[in-house]
Amino acid sequence: MNFDRHRRLRRTSFMRDMVRETHLRTEDLIYPIFVVEKPDVKAEIPSMKGIYQISLNLLKEELDEVVKLGIKSVVFFGIPNHKDPEGSGAYHDHGIVQEACRLSKQLYPELLVILDTCLCEYTDHGHCGLIDPVTKDVDNDASLPLLVQTAVSQAKAGADIIAPSNMMDGFVAHIRQGLDEAGFSHIPIMSYGIKYASKFYGPFRDAAESTPSFGDRRTYQMDPANRLEALRELESDELEGADMMIVKPALSYLDIIRDVRNESNLPVVAYNVSGEYAMTRTAIDMGLLDEEVIAEQMISMKRAGADMIITYFAKELAEKINKGE
Ligand code: PBG
Ligand code: ZN
Repeated sequence: MNFDRHRRLRRTSFMRDMVRETHLRTEDLIYPIFVVEKPDVKAEIPSMKGIYQISLNLLKEELDEVVKLGIKSVVFFGIPNHKDPEGSGAYHDHGIVQEACRLSKQLYPELLVILDTCLCEYTDHGHCGLIDPVTKDVDNDASLPLLVQTAVSQAKAGADIIAPSNMMDGFVAHIRQGLDEAGFSHIPIMSYGIKYASKFYGPFRDAAESTPSFGDRRTYQMDPANRLEALRELESDELEGADMMIVKPALSYLDIIRDVRNESNLPVVAYNVSGEYAMTRTAIDMGLLDEEVIAEQMISMKRAGADMIITYFAKELAEKINKGE
């Protein structure tokens, strides 16, 4: 009788290593850091065990650790002292993420700094753009110049990559033009253009203190039920000049990562968001799952087609990779 012997290639660990199709490297990992404008704070985020809000005067410790682990890129999110309806802290030249970026560049010039271009952490209403007083919805076109200003101030602070997450239509085109005109044509845009209106962002909003005070983000973030809409977002972001595409969240959207991989030649980034971190972290901490599920989840994103992964697990993954586990 003739049948396939698939187990031939699974016999030993060296054999399995040899035929492994997908790999996780420290170069693939992007570590998010929450920086607070208030001094002397290192506060664990209750819904994200192991992740902290950190003041600038305590940031060095964290960066030392990141660099020592071989992580090559970080993304800063800011928690400002002052919020207002226009989110002015986002485009202040000495705003919290701009200063975190300067410090990081001073300490570790090679560490890639990615800055998130959005207003929600800086607006008192918590939305990602300006609010139209009549409709109470975000005013798309009025928000664009503020987002351009934010991106330019981030580039001036030394950001290596601009990552706009606001989901206003035309944000890539506007930011690209703004960066070019300000002399930053060499700075790439990592677009969060495929961002779903997800409940998996809950813990992030605790961490960044950016929960909307009214309504929700469903008029600008995507409907989780839609797949073709992601391809339309991809198409317009590519035309507008995006250099890399983020799909967010990751684990419940692996099909979308695969679609983007198949349709686009741009680098694809999976954002393993706060709620995904919280679920896995909690299950491990409660002893319900083995910690190896972390690497398994990361491999699933890479197998789906992601080149890089933004993840709160970056430090512990890097540690494992370095140990050869
Ligand atoms: C800001 C932003 C959000 C996240 C990244 N940038 C939150 C949101 O849209 O409410 C979510 C990240 C996470 O959950 O880890 N626009
Ligand atoms: Zn936002």
